[in-house]
Amino acid sequence: MAEVIVCDSAQQAGDLVAAHIAAQVRACPTFTLGVATGSTPLPVYQALRTHADAGVDFSEVTAFALDEYVGLPDGHPQSYRAVVDHEVTNPLGLDPARVHVPDGHLDGIETAGHRYEEALTSHGGVDLQILGIGTTGHIGFNEPGSSFGSLTRVKTLTERTRIDNARFFDSLDQVPVHCVTQGLGTILRARHLVLLAFGEGKAEAVAGAVEGSVTASMPGSAIQLHSHVTVVLDQAAASQLTHRAYYDWAHQHKPAWQGI
Ligand code: PGA
Repeated sequence: MAEVIVCDSAQQAGDLVAAHIAAQVRACPTFTLGVATGSTPLPVYQALRTHADAGVDFSEVTAFALDEYVGLPDGHPQSYRAVVDHEVTNPLGLDPARVHVPDGHLDGIETAGHRYEEALTSHGGVDLQILGIGTTGHIGFNEPGSSFGSLTRVKTLTERTRIDNARFFDSLDQVPVHCVTQGLGTILRARHLVLLAFGEGKAEAVAGAVEGSVTASMPGSAIQLHSHVTVVLDQAAASQLTHRAYYDWAHQHKPAWQGI
């Protein structure tokens, strides 16, 4: 079962996850971090800046992003390459040569998934993967119906996801229809999954992922197959969980040496 930690705010959640990542990087400077985009991980990245400012050295950390839009021009501010540069690589001082994002260029898109899988495998995989969850239940851009064995590949976004992400663009028709995303099988290979979610709008997807049936119709439920998962929520995102009282009890009684 996943460990579920319910925080009072997104900032508190970000602080908790960032403190863990910073400790891992201090212990192992060549740590490999799986980064997610969207609004959810921003409090983690914000808190990591404080650790970088306090002297934690991220220059040997490798990062792999979960996904990328297909067909956005180079340097487009909403391309996930640009978002990762802006939120992670530059402020934390990562070496850009160690930051990997799937290649969403139309030219060569047929092999983009395979090339990304090779990069992940030859590097030796991801130590800690940060995940958000979409209102459709997607993790990465694995929309409902994605195979639990899927690897990095081109996917078609649901209209729901395009509408959810339209806030980052000038209009809905500018939101790409396709993406390249790590598959559920790819994500499950990471050694530790940390799924964050905030706000009432995520409550149903969180309950489905954490407590619902394991089904391709709820891609987030794939986390139930992993041996080391930490789900970090605010009160609103936790509001539909049936076993909430137990999660709080278990967290309060967790031996400190276990960490998250
Ligand atoms: P969000 O997106 O963090 O912007 O809510 C999450 C996701 O789509 O995975």
